[in-house]
Amino acid sequence: MNFKETLSEKTRHAEQILMTYLPKEKGFQKKVLEAVNYSAMAGGKRLRPVLMEESFLLFGGQGKLIEPFMAALEMIHNYSLVHDDLPAMDNDEYRRGRKTTWNVYGDGMAILAGDGLLNLAFETAALGFDYAEDEEQLRRAAAGIQILGRKAGIYGMIGGQCADIEAETGAEITEELLLFIHENKTAALIQAAMMTGAVLAGAGKREVELMEKAAYNIGIAFQIQDDILDVTSTEEVLGKPIGSDEKNHKLTYVSLHGLEESRKEVERLSREALSILGSFETKNEFLEELVVSLITREK
Ligand code: IPE
Ligand code: IPE
Ligand code: MG
Ligand code: MG
Ligand code: MG
Repeated sequence: MNFKETLSEKTRHAEQILMTYLPKEKGFQKKVLEAVNYSAMAGGKRLRPVLMEESFLLFGGQGKLIEPFMAALEMIHNYSLVHDDLPAMDNDEYRRGRKTTWNVYGDGMAILAGDGLLNLAFETAALGFDYAEDEEQLRRAAAGIQILGRKAGIYGMIGGQCADIEAETGAEITEELLLFIHENKTAALIQAAMMTGAVLAGAGKREVELMEKAAYNIGIAFQIQDDILDVTSTEEVLGKPIGSDEKNHKLTYVSLHGLEESRKEVERLSREALSILGSFETKNEFLEELVVSLITREK
């Protein structure tokens, strides 16, 4: 199997795991359950659970403990997008080639669907305790939940979204602020993926710190590429509106440094991440190929 085929198989696998934890659409709260499933099952690259599983494999992880965590992180990612698209935030009408959740279900339901996904994520991750086979695995599951909470929260993704919104108006534009936004709104969930995968496999403290660094580089590169595509792609290819950042006066790497410099930075950061991944005693060739493929991703 070539890289592309392997990736699509692993993506499907991550999606199937996610599906097993999504709700049945019934009861008086059926509407919000529909909105939850609409946003979670709209397609998407499933990059974060794939990165999590590959990081787990890199450190010799085995068994099902990883599965609820993969689903949980993808739920958190999807909730972040449902809220990110709201009129009060980026005000975008399309994502993954179809209408955004608020655009179909209204703002109120979209807010609740995001809240619902976030809660379900932690309920799901906590199922990891049921899969744990011994004390050590219980400890790893607890550490995984801490990482998810921290990296998704006010010292992670939410913190980055806060600075992203404030930078639209008036904030002093500096390189430091730009990196804070990228690190938190985007790299934090990539870090959650790779650190949780490592922790659940039993990686040591030093290894987890290195995964955090590698994921920082991958995450910043990922957001710079997202900002490049917002300028250079088309809505058909991207599945979401282009020019969203300009419309919202966003502070992006492209707005600060231009396209050419931005492309170079994506390459540089990705190579940096690869050199960290290459420094471990164990290897995961697919994970390395995945990082390389992100440098030139078109969606
Ligand atoms: C979009 O993430 C939000 C960013 C952090 C740039 P993805 O590009 O991973 O979105 P999907 O899940 O594939 O749609
Ligand atoms: C998204 O940044 C970051 C989060 C959702 C946390 P963007 O606002 O650039 O993402 P897209 O372009 O809407 O996917
Ligand atoms: Mg945004
Ligand atoms: Mg957006
Ligand atoms: Mg964007």
